[in-house]
Amino acid sequence: MARFYITTPIYYVNDAPHVGHAYCTVNADAMARWHRLNGHETKLLTGTDEHGQKVADAAEKNGVTPQEWTDRTSRRFREAWDNLNVSYDDFIRTTEPRHFETVQKFLTKVYENGYIYKDTYVGLYCVSCEDYFSSEAAADGKCPIHGRPLTEMEEENWFFKLTAFEDRLLEYYEANPHFIAPGTKYNEAKAFVKGGLQDISITRSSINWGIPVPWDEGHVFYVWYDALINYLTAIGYGRENDEVGEWWPVSNHLIGKEIIRFHGVWWPAMCMAAGLEPVHHVQVHGWLLVGGQKLSKTMAAEGGVRLTDIAPVMLTDEFGVDAIRYYLLRETALGNDGDFSHEGITARYNTDLANNLGNLVARVTTIVAGALEGVAPRPQPDASLREAAATAVSSAAAAWDRFAPHSALEATWQLIGATNAYLEQNAPWKMETGDELRNVMGNALEAIRIITILTTPAMPTTAQAIWERIGLAGTPTDRVFADATTWGHYEGTTNIVKGTPLFPRMKAAE
Ligand code: MSP
Repeated sequence: MARFYITTPIYYVNDAPHVGHAYCTVNADAMARWHRLNGHETKLLTGTDEHGQKVADAAEKNGVTPQEWTDRTSRRFREAWDNLNVSYDDFIRTTEPRHFETVQKFLTKVYENGYIYKDTYVGLYCVSCEDYFSSEAAADGKCPIHGRPLTEMEEENWFFKLTAFEDRLLEYYEANPHFIAPGTKYNEAKAFVKGGLQDISITRSSINWGIPVPWDEGHVFYVWYDALINYLTAIGYGRENDEVGEWWPVSNHLIGKEIIRFHGVWWPAMCMAAGLEPVHHVQVHGWLLVGGQKLSKTMAAEGGVRLTDIAPVMLTDEFGVDAIRYYLLRETALGNDGDFSHEGITARYNTDLANNLGNLVARVTTIVAGALEGVAPRPQPDASLREAAATAVSSAAAAWDRFAPHSALEATWQLIGATNAYLEQNAPWKMETGDELRNVMGNALEAIRIITILTTPAMPTTAQAIWERIGLAGTPTDRVFADATTWGHYEGTTNIVKGTPLFPRMKAAE
């Protein structure tokens, strides 16, 4: 059976989850749901990145131990994903013993293969990035991402020979043009390697909140080095029940655009150094911006964008979980930056959900419950809607397959539009009860059944609710997608009742 393994980045626990994190996690969830719908054995991994200076500092500032702090904050991420109906199969915390074991096994392998050596490092460090910058990249002594002063650090550290992988990385990119998507991001990684690499310091002796280096006790691994390996921890690398052989060849990392260098350059090189194939695919997304600025925790702390104002739960309380999921998936093409706004959510909600989808279901169920006394008819084999349905199904499937939820939903909404137009043309509300009315309603119900299946990766709860409203038993995911979405499966039923509106209209903000 085909498999699909998808991961989100693991989130730093120095602060609470925000809608930028939700953006990535909901996209990964929808893709996992898409693959499950196709009958693929699927694994969705998310979790929290709990080591490093930034987390140790956050704990100290809050007067608790790093362990207490990470327990508390990690829980908040898990709650945020539970609230957003994220179907993660595993939630990893980098403070777990399984992760210590895998990290130590993996890096010992890299060490034994001769790619780790000791040297002294002097550099400019940004704690918010947990990363060093060259003096060219930070000409004014400030972090180019966070704008904060950098700290000069000097440490005797262990280094990873990234430079040994320049040629192999370039060969790998050439041989695998879809390794990183979209193409602009693939080019960015390639250009970075072509610009010349430097070896990386991978341990710290100045802090102890980290995973100990097995061959040198005074050191812990640098947080990024431990973090990247989480993707292997979750599939048992180096431990009992090692499933790397099954899952690694079908692995996909969904990441934000500022961490391409880690995932598209360091990580494949680390895998090569450990004698492992790199991750199969890296899919890069842009940032959600508020008034043109990234939602970053650092800016929030400095009084810029107030992240606490846009915690995912506040949005879901106002609009509902599925409406927010829909907005996050539909508004922005994956790879571009998106403009996040309350007005934007309200507009999507009212247009796509209340007017188009909600209204379609309401119109059809009202007529069947009224004029046809709840007895739903079957579709006609040669209905004009059949073609529109087949087009939507194939375009949506192709879009989901290429990590384009935005296009998949656009195709789905085209079918919703076509079904509403079909009703306008036939005006069943003016028809006498009889075969003509029954045929139109049977076709509209069949289109709704297919639309419902198409919306499940994005809006699982709504899909289930519509499924039940049109009198179907079980769930829209009971049959695999290709079989379920062919025209003609709707069998008619006697159970149609007009329900309350699925998406009551929202008042636009004043
Ligand atoms: N801990 C590292 C990742 C390690 S993965 C081995 C990290 N954590 S983070 O919490 O700072 O960011 C996690 C992800 O959230 C990144 O992919 C980042 O792009 C994403 N986002 C944070 N703010 C965002 C937006 N405003 N919009 C979209 N995604 C954003 O980096």
